[in-house]
Amino acid sequence: MVVTALWNQGNSLSGGAVAGIVIACIVILIVSIWLVAIYYRRQQMRKATLLPSPEDPVQFGSASQAEGIKVDRSIQFSYEELCDATHNFSMERKIGQGGFGSVYYAELRGERAAIKKMDAKATEEFLAELKVLTHVHHLNLVRLIGYCVESCLFLVYEFIDNGNLSQHLRVTGYEPLSWTSRVRIALDSARGLEYIHEHTVPVYVHRDIKSANILIDKDFRAKVADFGLTKLVEIGTTSQSLPTRVVGTFGYMPPEYARYGEVSPKVDVYAFGIVLYELISAKEAIVRSTESTDAKGLVYLFEETLSMPDPKEAIQKLIDPNLGGDYPIDSVLKIVYLAKSCTHAEPTVRPTMRSVVVALMALSSKDNELTRGLELELSPRELRSG
Ligand SMILES: Nc1ncnc2c1ncn2[C@@H]1O[C@H](COP(=O)(O)OP(=O)(O)OP(=O)(O)O)[C@@H](O)[C@H]1O
Ligand SMILES: [Mg+2]
Repeated sequence: MVVTALWNQGNSLSGGAVAGIVIACIVILIVSIWLVAIYYRRQQMRKATLLPSPEDPVQFGSASQAEGIKVDRSIQFSYEELCDATHNFSMERKIGQGGFGSVYYAELRGERAAIKKMDAKATEEFLAELKVLTHVHHLNLVRLIGYCVESCLFLVYEFIDNGNLSQHLRVTGYEPLSWTSRVRIALDSARGLEYIHEHTVPVYVHRDIKSANILIDKDFRAKVADFGLTKLVEIGTTSQSLPTRVVGTFGYMPPEYARYGEVSPKVDVYAFGIVLYELISAKEAIVRSTESTDAKGLVYLFEETLSMPDPKEAIQKLIDPNLGGDYPIDSVLKIVYLAKSCTHAEPTVRPTMRSVVVALMALSSKDNELTRGLELELSPRELRSG
């Protein structure tokens, strides 16, 4: 009606008015499209955060098997996104090199991540396995957030701030770990292992337990890294993308695995025993002599010492000097005997990870009692003065 009235007032005026109305409509349309676009972008951003919100349902191994694997929370990243997050996989972003590939620090979707660039090829079976792995969550396991299969295979892990156990024990510049902290790290790692041995479906044997695969967070809690990787590599192997090999690290492999390739959870128990010896001595799994070409494993060194007439006295020579004598010797001895049973040559004699957890729990609460006892012995004034 307005248009008609304006039209009736004369062609030139009504033409301008019509143009104005048309422009106004276009502006309204553009603004609406813009608002809708912003809304969708926000929705996408919310979906794209690396970690799920606490109210998201968590799918553990057995559930995902029974109900069919839910893949919505397994995040698949694009190669472009990973390049951006790692400055094109630049050397400054490289944080390590392992047997399966290189690891890069990344800032991805506003969060810190570690990206492992692998040499394996992603088959269907491989991807199915990856999806299962992204659903295995435990406080003491480094979480696999997602992956990328463009160009080559990339695994995206949560980033753990504080390096690995091997660095804390042996690299200069790291503060020495206290005895209590070492026992807690042992218990944390044992819990991570117990979880993959007993509570996931399928269960996993790690097969590459070593101090470099135990990561330490800012609160000095430990998380086991790279679980499930050996299985992935094996699946890659059957697709002929990798040569067949016994996966593992020298010094940590039990005889039945190194000689005959026999795999059972007891392979991890043995390697965990070596990690216990490392926590006590801060020595490498294989100790090389500086004077000769001789090399001795930690199992040999500790068992030789335990066979001496006074093991309690003799063992002190093997304890990490960085502890500065600040340890309860009985607690150290108990860990030595636990490590000895874990590294028994016969796999059936080794304890399960569940028993190891129970033993370490008893020990760590005993240590706490000892510390509490010390505090109680102090006068209130001494306590106040710190
Ligand atoms: N999620 C992570 N957060 C922080 N650092 C990590 C993470 N994953 C690996 N790293 C670091 O990257 C380095 C290399 O890791 P990588 O797993 O490739 O090698 P490795 O553990 O030495 O040997 P392996 O290949 O047998 O596991 C390690 O020193 C580790 O400290
Ligand atoms: Mg590793």
